[in-house]
Amino acid sequence: MSALVSPLNHGALAAAVRSGTPTLGTFIGTASPIAAEVCAAAGVDWVLLDLEHGAGGEEQVRDVVPAAGSYGVPTVVRVESAARIRMGRVLDSGAAGIMLPRMNTADEVTEAVRHLRYPPAGDRGVATYNRSCRFGLDPDALDRANSEVLGVVQIESAVAVGHAEAIAALDGVDVLFVGPRDLSHDLGVPGDHTAPAFTEAIAHVLAAGRRHGKACGLLVADGAAAARRLEQGWSFVGIGSDSTLLAAAVTAEFGRARTSVKQLRPDDRNRSMRTTDDGWVQPGIGLISVGWMGKLHSRAYQAVPLVYPELKIRPRLVHAADTAADRAGYAHEVLGYARTGTDYHDVLADPDVDVVSICAPNMLHREIGVAAARAGKPFWIEKPVGRDVGETAAGVTTSIGYNYRHVPAVERVRELIAAGRLGRVTNVRAVFFNSYAAEPNGALSWRFRRDEAGSGALGDLLSHVVDLMQYVVAPITEVSSLLSTVYAQRPILPMGSGTHFAVIENGELGEVENDDYVAALIRFGTGSGSRAAGAVGTLEASRVSVGPQCALGFEIYGTEGSAIWNFEQMNELRLCLGRGGDNAGYTTVLGNAALGDYGRFQPGPGTSMSYDDLKVIEAKKFLVAVCGGERRNSTIEEAHADAEVIAATAASARDGAWHKVAPVPGATFGHA
Ligand SMILES: NC(=O)c1ccc[n+]([C@@H]2O[C@H](COP(=O)([O-])OP(=O)(O)OC[C@H]3O[C@@H](n4cnc5c(N)ncnc54)[C@H](O)[C@@H]3O)[C@@H](O)[C@H]2O)c1
Repeated sequence: MSALVSPLNHGALAAAVRSGTPTLGTFIGTASPIAAEVCAAAGVDWVLLDLEHGAGGEEQVRDVVPAAGSYGVPTVVRVESAARIRMGRVLDSGAAGIMLPRMNTADEVTEAVRHLRYPPAGDRGVATYNRSCRFGLDPDALDRANSEVLGVVQIESAVAVGHAEAIAALDGVDVLFVGPRDLSHDLGVPGDHTAPAFTEAIAHVLAAGRRHGKACGLLVADGAAAARRLEQGWSFVGIGSDSTLLAAAVTAEFGRARTSVKQLRPDDRNRSMRTTDDGWVQPGIGLISVGWMGKLHSRAYQAVPLVYPELKIRPRLVHAADTAADRAGYAHEVLGYARTGTDYHDVLADPDVDVVSICAPNMLHREIGVAAARAGKPFWIEKPVGRDVGETAAGVTTSIGYNYRHVPAVERVRELIAAGRLGRVTNVRAVFFNSYAAEPNGALSWRFRRDEAGSGALGDLLSHVVDLMQYVVAPITEVSSLLSTVYAQRPILPMGSGTHFAVIENGELGEVENDDYVAALIRFGTGSGSRAAGAVGTLEASRVSVGPQCALGFEIYGTEGSAIWNFEQMNELRLCLGRGGDNAGYTTVLGNAALGDYGRFQPGPGTSMSYDDLKVIEAKKFLVAVCGGERRNSTIEEAHADAEVIAATAASARDGAWHKVAPVPGATFGHA
């Protein structure tokens, strides 16, 4: 007789699990033998064919077992019920083990595991002509089978958790496997795997397994979560299923591809835009207001083809306007706009202008935004959009200048929260402490006048904090606040001269009409899945800070970790992931290619990016959206939602009460 070496690797999985070796597998929900074979070829330790929730039935065991086995990967089968005949048929088809769903007590498990074994130890039906006995060629398999079959018992209810100790003690039980979804629902915390009720329950299961030398396992969403569970001592870990892994890969890759205009069909592009024979789109840029932001938008447009050459977008600077004639002249002579003037209407009427940057003071945002929309010109407008909620809601914006979202370290924190790496977010501290008005003789620019700017630090600075927190953590739902004005008078600065950093000695004084400082207590709704349920925090902004110069920063605390970032050290992220361990406390992560768009600007880690680079990312997102690609830029709904928080903050400062923030339909901030 030939040597009885089977690719089905009988017994190897049970032996590994019993020896304490950690293993990683995935569920096969599609019931497809090819999917099982692909997973096996890709390197899983086991596949688990799911007959409880999967798409197939018992007949799929026949094809899945040899498909995975062709790569030496064993198949465990989750049976739809613990009936003797169901389990026997699956084992006869060559399954390496059985997962038993919905077990609650030791008595139920005792009865079920009897079906895993031949008599006299159990009551499994005996036949030798099937795959488990190599179709009659290996009758000795009957003698080995009782020790080769892996018994996996699911713990999916509070009752089962209560009996975990007794179940773990049973002979025939190799793995206690937590079904996280079912268990969280049964515990009354559906889907919240950071809730104390859930974490305490699974800790109890893990301890019970350990005491009896049994492996413990559970199902997680991704590799990062699996790594954490392995570290905690879970040794039989399932990472998603064939269908969830496929869906995640498709979503990620298609999302990435759609940021590239190259992927667009020609019909998707704005047909009126000039396009060269070799495929470069050349949008004509109109600029309204040539102050700080106007210059920066212009440079950002010019940088787009250098930083993102594959997009094949090369903007043309066509027409700029500023009421200050010398600034209009600067736009022509220095920035290189083909035409300039003092009336923004001429920019909007110019047929060669495809898109418009609106960089005017706040009081003009509504008027110019509406005019641009009427002229059919997509536009990129600076924040805050309008002086109040009413103006923002009336807008028809395509992109808003909330540039701090694009910081690579900020993007990383958002990803970590969404992936649950900080656990459940409990509280935040976020500030924007700026020094631009710290000098008492700092000029009274439009920023200090209520009719031109609306609020002061609240709209100018706290709006950035609000947008950042809503983008990174979750929507803000309730606010209690106070405002204060530190300097009541300042020297007057004519519009279009100097900057808001200008200092004027012995100038004529005018009244400061809005706030220098704002503080707010906030409550969050849910966001990033359910990662921020119940989170609270404090927000502050000041334009008169002595010390901090442009200190926009946050500290975000969760049950499993925390993250600290500040714009003054934009390229540094301080992270603490996990509550203890050898590296307890913060680790500093420097800018590197894995964070956001960092790799577009610097070839290696640790080389700084700048504020201006954020505007290049923003220009790219705007132009990609305008050209029909993915919308990754901030939306009008989100700007409206930010404005609602600012409005609630202003209202609370007036009456001293907590104010609910009016929800804005469609303002998702990208959270699930
Ligand atoms: N995203 C950010 O980080 C950020 C930073 C600074 C400013 N901003 C925003 O950008 C906008 C502009 O701020 P800034 O610092 O560039 O201001 P600025 O004072 O430097 O420039 C404003 C310009 O607007 C011009 N102007 C005034 N009335 C005009 C009109 N009717 N038509 C055309 N031009 C007119 C002025 O002459 C001046 O040149 C503001 O809304 C501000 O809140 C955003």
